[in-house]
Amino acid sequence: MARQRILITKRIYPEAVEALRADFDVDYEDAAAGLQPAALLARSTGCAAVVTQLTDRLDGGVIERLDASVKALAQVAVGYDNIDVPAATRRGILVTNTPGVLTGTTADFAWALLMAAARRVPEAHNFVHAGQWKTWQIDLLAGQDVHGATLGIFGLGRIGQAVARRARGFDMRILYHDAVRLPAGAERELGAVFASKEQLLQTADFVSLHVPLLPETRHLIGAPELALMKPSAVLINTARGPVVDEAALADALEQRRIWAAGLDVFEREPAVEARLLRLPNVVVAPHIASASIATRRKMSMMAADNAAAFLAGKRPPNPVNPEVLG
Ligand code: DGY
Repeated sequence: MARQRILITKRIYPEAVEALRADFDVDYEDAAAGLQPAALLARSTGCAAVVTQLTDRLDGGVIERLDASVKALAQVAVGYDNIDVPAATRRGILVTNTPGVLTGTTADFAWALLMAAARRVPEAHNFVHAGQWKTWQIDLLAGQDVHGATLGIFGLGRIGQAVARRARGFDMRILYHDAVRLPAGAERELGAVFASKEQLLQTADFVSLHVPLLPETRHLIGAPELALMKPSAVLINTARGPVVDEAALADALEQRRIWAAGLDVFEREPAVEARLLRLPNVVVAPHIASASIATRRKMSMMAADNAAAFLAGKRPPNPVNPEVLG
């Protein structure tokens, strides 16, 4: 029997490619840039599954035009807002993702940004490198205390909870807001107190975003929300760029209406609002919150396992639209 064919749209860790090659005929785009929709459509023709990444644009129009051979999209990420899942479901195409394996790594990085922004680490680094350090000075690069402060978390799912657990070591008070409130036991275990969006924004010293990108969360933080935050507050975004209105954020930071921001994700990646890059109180990273070597390997393997299980007629571990499986 002919082996089933799988397209991998851009570079992943090699062990995942090798694992798939053992059982499938693999068309591997071994490049960082990935495929434009026309190339993805052409190359996926005849394939049973496509291993996708968040830079692949799989909107309704592209999904409609996928070859009838394509039965599964195995995303190498926990987020899948680049895929029109209802359109995939209508065509009976399974979508899978990679939850869990990146939780701790992403939470660690939210903390890296939080600490860096609060204590002005990039500014301090640049200051020393530029030879500007002349003497010890009482107010030199003075920042905000993290310990004992109030952390406000939007989205207390897996990653939000991991961020909350790390806050305990800093003796922080934890507020959260989410569409769904956690059971009382879970709130107690985390030491997290539910707050309205307004209460959280008005009270938190640090606001960290951990919601998926949905129509309801697009521009969750815009000008009105930024206006509620303390002038000493720091905003951290490791979720998705469009959750924050980037132009409104640049206004708020320029006018010192909030104190700093730590951003791993942007509205139009890889483009970044130019004004943000001119501000010393903004710490930026190129969407790398889950990028430890171990975690990116696990994500690659998990996507491969999802695709392989499905094509072998088994239930894949991480279906996003399980209704397709019947
Ligand atoms: C995800 O998994 O959704 C991240 O943004 C990339 O790790």
